[in-house]
Amino acid sequence: MTRTQVGIVGAGPAGLMLSHLLHLAGISSVILETRSREAIEATIRAGVLEQNTVDLMVETGVGERLQREGFVHHGFDFRFEGHSHRIDLTGLTGGRQITVYPQHEVLKDLIQVRLEAGADIRFGVRDVSLHDVTTSPRIRFTNQDGTAGELACVLVGGCDGSYGVSRPVIPEEKRRDFLRIYPFGWFGILAEAPPSSDELIYARHERGFALISTRSPEVQRMYFQCDPSDSVDNWSDDRIWEELQTRTEGDGFRLTEGRIFQKNIVPMRSFVCEPMQYGKLFIAGDAAHTVPPTGAKGLNLAVADVFVLSRAMERYLKSGADDGLQGYSTTALKRIWRAQHFSWWMTSMLHRFDDASEFDRRRQLAELDLVTSSEAAARTVAENYVGLPLH
Ligand code: PHB
Repeated sequence: MTRTQVGIVGAGPAGLMLSHLLHLAGISSVILETRSREAIEATIRAGVLEQNTVDLMVETGVGERLQREGFVHHGFDFRFEGHSHRIDLTGLTGGRQITVYPQHEVLKDLIQVRLEAGADIRFGVRDVSLHDVTTSPRIRFTNQDGTAGELACVLVGGCDGSYGVSRPVIPEEKRRDFLRIYPFGWFGILAEAPPSSDELIYARHERGFALISTRSPEVQRMYFQCDPSDSVDNWSDDRIWEELQTRTEGDGFRLTEGRIFQKNIVPMRSFVCEPMQYGKLFIAGDAAHTVPPTGAKGLNLAVADVFVLSRAMERYLKSGADDGLQGYSTTALKRIWRAQHFSWWMTSMLHRFDDASEFDRRRQLAELDLVTSSEAAARTVAENYVGLPLH
């Protein structure tokens, strides 16, 4: 039996950042993770960090490589009807910006800093189960070597993603789930090519949405709306480039093509679980909510959750006051619903809906016209995209 103050399930952005922030506050934690370190560090996910996320990483000593290798962007383009329209993020938000730095690089940095500080992170564990979370929590699991493990802790951080064991521990009659499934997915590629644009492009086209993003001067990340049940095997490189070129065409614009070395399809959904607490269990990140990637909010929301949670846990463990913990769910949900609305709205404005009428299509274009011609409307987009301050 191992004892620690906070037992954390999951070594994703939420779990690792929570453990890191608790450590800086002098609080011990143990992280249990079912995947291997290699798998976590190789999984391609999101890539856009809000300034809040960057600032927190820098302030807490995990931002050094991010500052050196991340790419700062001051705007992005909406592209529709063959033309690009820039949203000046920095100009519209009083100097804020976003940074393109892949999630798995964030995870590498957090894992390294945590391990250097002597953290106990158990990768590759199995059979994780939570017990007595309303009284004296214990977490049982099977170690990588097959031996049984048990963790006794004061508080539990459930940071194990959408399909983890934490959320289902909250009894169904004590929680409410909100779910919207979109009738499309995103086909994502990584290509060896120079950037086609200095900034991200969110494109709306009659054939569907496309997103031109980047990873580095040599590697580009692009997506296009697809049938969620489609298979990557149906898409040759030629067919992918033709689709992306068509959806971004106009004004003589051409994507620079290159060797495609990764293809995947991600489903699109919006999900929230309320409340994010049951007894001494607190869920954070994807364990509690999912946003469609159109607003680039997923990772940033996970970091914002554990920023609030770590302070509440610190207060409780140091002084016994539980007002922070009791308020965690309400505080976190305010930001989460803001991001849910923004992500849903961006998704609705930019995607092709097969059942849309001609009225719906005209309305969609009128909305894009508004956000690219009214400064007030553009500022709303920009403020949401760069993110609300954490403090
Ligand atoms: C990405 O680069 O993976 C990315 C960028 C912006 C988004 C979603 C994903 O909105």
